[in-house]
Amino acid sequence: MRVRIAGTGSYLPATCVSNAELSQRVDTSDEWIQSRTGIRERRLLGPDDVPSQMGVSAAQAALAAAGSSPAEVGLLMVASNVLEQPVPGTAPFIAQGLGFPDDVPFMDIMAGCSGFVFGMAVAGALVAGGLVRSALLVGTEALSRFVDWQDRTTCVLFGDGAGAVLLEHSTGEESILGVSLHGDPAKAHLLRVEVGGVRTPVDEIAVRARRHFLKMEGEGVFRSAVHMMERSSREALAQAGLSADDVDWWIPHQANLRIIDALARRLQIPRERMVINIDRVANTSTASIPIALDELARSGRLQSGDILALTAFGAGASYGTVIVRW
Ligand code: ACO
Repeated sequence: MRVRIAGTGSYLPATCVSNAELSQRVDTSDEWIQSRTGIRERRLLGPDDVPSQMGVSAAQAALAAAGSSPAEVGLLMVASNVLEQPVPGTAPFIAQGLGFPDDVPFMDIMAGCSGFVFGMAVAGALVAGGLVRSALLVGTEALSRFVDWQDRTTCVLFGDGAGAVLLEHSTGEESILGVSLHGDPAKAHLLRVEVGGVRTPVDEIAVRARRHFLKMEGEGVFRSAVHMMERSSREALAQAGLSADDVDWWIPHQANLRIIDALARRLQIPRERMVINIDRVANTSTASIPIALDELARSGRLQSGDILALTAFGAGASYGTVIVRW
């Protein structure tokens, strides 16, 4: 696909919570969290803040990096697990915050933590096909609002944040070289918020049973995740005519350092080619890949022509990989 990433941006909330601070809320320890997940600390959204504010900040940074402006954007696509409000979602609030004119299309996309990778494929295809002149793709996540802060098995894992990219038609070598997207509905139960939708609306009994919070079957997720990212990575690389060795930067979804290490072992990727920030930001779900990409881009280590592999798995269970030439 003749599409390039013209600019990247990210935003992390100011409030930083260490493992030691968390261990005062629930029965856990810095040692347990670091050894099982690689996480040291996470950023959390302030009580009066909303995910669209994070998305607006990340998007503004991406537009500035690309030398573009909201008036030039052809489409806004927002990936998220938890919406700003059930109707009309999050995208309209980001469009509003960016000061969009009244005719630019926007939409939310839900594909679990793989939402950003799915968004890259879908928005990239729309730009490459000429249906839109550019696409601003935002991943913004505030799972801290859906985590049960009494449940040590989940609350230690997640952080809040947002990341964004501006996709434009490419006239040079930069492009999306390969895409592999999949889903396994038999694993839909592994990560879920059961209450609050049409199937089970919120009521007092559900809230008392704490069913409105995120539930996760950690071991099941762990077992599937490595296989899923390995499979989609191999497929996307084959489509691109490349091998794992040709990838300069692997940017995996930051769910657990042990999952990332296991993927690296399976694909024989040296640690230095894995972009890792889970220690500082924890699992920011749909925002994790664009935040890591933005940090890499701003570090000055990315060279023109570098090959990137963005790979993710998430609720659903959805999973996928996109190979990009920078
Ligand atoms: N602190 C201390 N002890 C804990 C904690 C905690 N925070 N959480 C669990 N434990 C205890 C458990 O209760 C259990 O105790 P028990 O043996 O007495 O019953 C013990 O630690 C071991 O628990 P396990 O679940 O076996 O620990 P494991 O090594 O499997 O690690 C983890 C758990 C980190 C959740 C792991 O399974 C994992 O990372 N899974 C994948 C999670 C993931 O990727 N989630 C995101 C998916 S999609 C998305 O990104 C939104």
